[in-house]
Amino acid sequence: MWLPSGCTCKCVVTFVSRRVFKARIHVGVRRRCNVAAFMPEAAGFDGVSDYAALQDFSVTSSESFWAAVARQRLSWIRPFNAVQDCDLSRGKIKWFEGGKLNVSVNCLDRHVHTYPERVALIWEKDEPGSEVKVTYRQLLEMTCRLGNMLRRRGVKKGDCVTIYMPPCPLAVASMLACARIGAAHNVVFAGFSAEALAERIRDAQSSTVITVNQGVRGGKLIELKKTVDSAVQSCPTVKQVFVAMRTENPANLTARDVLMEEEMMKEDVVCEPAVMDSEDVLFMLYTSGSTGKPKGLVHTQAGYLLYAALTHRYVFSYHDGDVFGCVADIGWITGHSYSVYGPLANGGTTVLFESTPIYPDPGRYWETVQRLKINQFYGAPTAIRLLLKYGDEWVQKYDRSSLKTLGSVGEPINTEAWEWYHRVVGDGRCPVVDTWWQTETGGICITPRPSEPDAEIVPGMAMRPFFGIKPVLMDTEGKVLTSNDTSGALCIAQPWPGMARTIHNNHQRFIDTYCQPHPGYFFTGDGAYRSKEGYYQITGRLDDVINVSGHRIGTAEIEDVVNQCSEVAESAVIGYPHDIKGEGVYAFVVLKKAVDVKGADLSKQLNNMVTTKIAKYACPDHIQLVQRLPKTRSGKIMRRVLRKVVERDLNGLGDLSTLDDPAAVQEIIQGHREICGKQQPR
Ligand code: WTA
Repeated sequence: MWLPSGCTCKCVVTFVSRRVFKARIHVGVRRRCNVAAFMPEAAGFDGVSDYAALQDFSVTSSESFWAAVARQRLSWIRPFNAVQDCDLSRGKIKWFEGGKLNVSVNCLDRHVHTYPERVALIWEKDEPGSEVKVTYRQLLEMTCRLGNMLRRRGVKKGDCVTIYMPPCPLAVASMLACARIGAAHNVVFAGFSAEALAERIRDAQSSTVITVNQGVRGGKLIELKKTVDSAVQSCPTVKQVFVAMRTENPANLTARDVLMEEEMMKEDVVCEPAVMDSEDVLFMLYTSGSTGKPKGLVHTQAGYLLYAALTHRYVFSYHDGDVFGCVADIGWITGHSYSVYGPLANGGTTVLFESTPIYPDPGRYWETVQRLKINQFYGAPTAIRLLLKYGDEWVQKYDRSSLKTLGSVGEPINTEAWEWYHRVVGDGRCPVVDTWWQTETGGICITPRPSEPDAEIVPGMAMRPFFGIKPVLMDTEGKVLTSNDTSGALCIAQPWPGMARTIHNNHQRFIDTYCQPHPGYFFTGDGAYRSKEGYYQITGRLDDVINVSGHRIGTAEIEDVVNQCSEVAESAVIGYPHDIKGEGVYAFVVLKKAVDVKGADLSKQLNNMVTTKIAKYACPDHIQLVQRLPKTRSGKIMRRVLRKVVERDLNGLGDLSTLDDPAAVQEIIQGHREICGKQQPR
């Protein structure tokens, strides 16, 4: 893969239980928080002399807080004239209107002026020991060349470019090049199938796609260009595909393909940044909801960048010169906010991790920490659960003294995994921050840090709201629960700059999903418990979205695919507790009459279909053939019943009297026993 001149390249060729945990771990030394040293803006906030007052100010004087932070931390071409103009009940969210800026200038140019040779990206390639370092100067050069290339090839302000690439410098430069010229990007996780990619390209109406010839992951080659070829067959809007060369194997180029590295080398290294309004679109990112159709959440320029930068700085205690290691893929929001935008806006050094936690062995993360001297490590509980099963030796073999903060994201982290992460990986000396947030929230909203330096951290709990965030819990009647030691639907009571603005092409869906359920509040779709002390613990989704290995997927999306199978009459898909993945996929399938198919054949066929239409991670772990599904008299599938059967909580089946045919349940229980025996399904 093309690298800028002078680039340093070493080519060596459970689940959370819903109770509050008793064990409380104090991290850090008791000392008073000097609030102005902690956050310079606070010096200008009236009456704010300690941390608690700062937190309070950020919520009660939200406009003053965000105005000061935005002026201080972003570089503006023209200052904004209104801090916010929001009406959550109508889905109207606008921040920093009147302001003009360019996100790529904020992430690159201003740092190039002060420290051109500071490393911006460390690309941790799949091949261990072959990391590539890219300085701010080099990343700006790459971005400008790509920006010029896209402009010359007709990409205009407001267009949307789809990026289908694994984490690598050219992917980041492509995102920033879009930002430079005012195009929106739509990064699609490079594990998605051709059909899933095509659906996202079509919905985003992209005319340009950027990809690589092949991906490399866990020592295996992945035919990404071929996937794009097959996707674009059903995408009439696509006029050009830029192909970067990740491997030396030739890409089979068609008339619409352009070799990206060759093309960008013809371009100038200076590219005039587009002048963008605060509320122009920066990117859209598709995520799963409770219908079969993924939604393209839209994030805009200033508010998103500011929120990503501020959370990155304070949640992880990121300081100048630190190496930040977020191992998420850039295809997810975590990669956007904490591999790319947050760290780069802060002038940080960020790691792009291309490999897997167990390649070439289960020591990979910690060998990488040692070699790159990573200071903050941010990963998913599913990987932690997997690694703890391999034993402590894989961790202890490596020097982890550089680590200062450990982060967890994407799903609940069970106490066992939390404690192992804290005790073994962090040698008991690094705070573990369980960060709760969503594609919709743009950045971390609930997390143990920041807080008073001496404040406790409770294992497996996200705990405290970030600055400017006001969480509330709602009861089933939509009333705000004011007491502690209570559970409810998690909402956020006031807007914050990082929140998504809309769903691409479907503002009504945005309103219906997030604003209507509890008018005046942003509804997250998650449930939460608030402890006696007022700390939040996320208890899981309230809708039909499940979380498999930290990847969000709607059960309806899987059902849509299963139902397309010619033998299948109908199906119901649910999530169930899974030791490693957090949640596994369990499909109940009713076959058409007179169909005679072997379970193993059907399972193979359905797995193939799900892999081709969505992605491998969405494949059912279990398929149970049933005669009928438990339905209400009005024909609605009672998933609650199915969940209880799979969780083996037969006492929790609840009232079955509204079922059309209660006998269906007995049959399902019996079938489930036959499949899973006495074991919990895996
Ligand atoms: C879940 C990922 C428990 C939650 C950043 C949310 C979590 C969904 C946590 C968003 C956490 C995320 N504890 N659950 N710390 N973090 N989730 O959009 O259900 O891919 O709604 O964003 O993941 O997933 P998404």
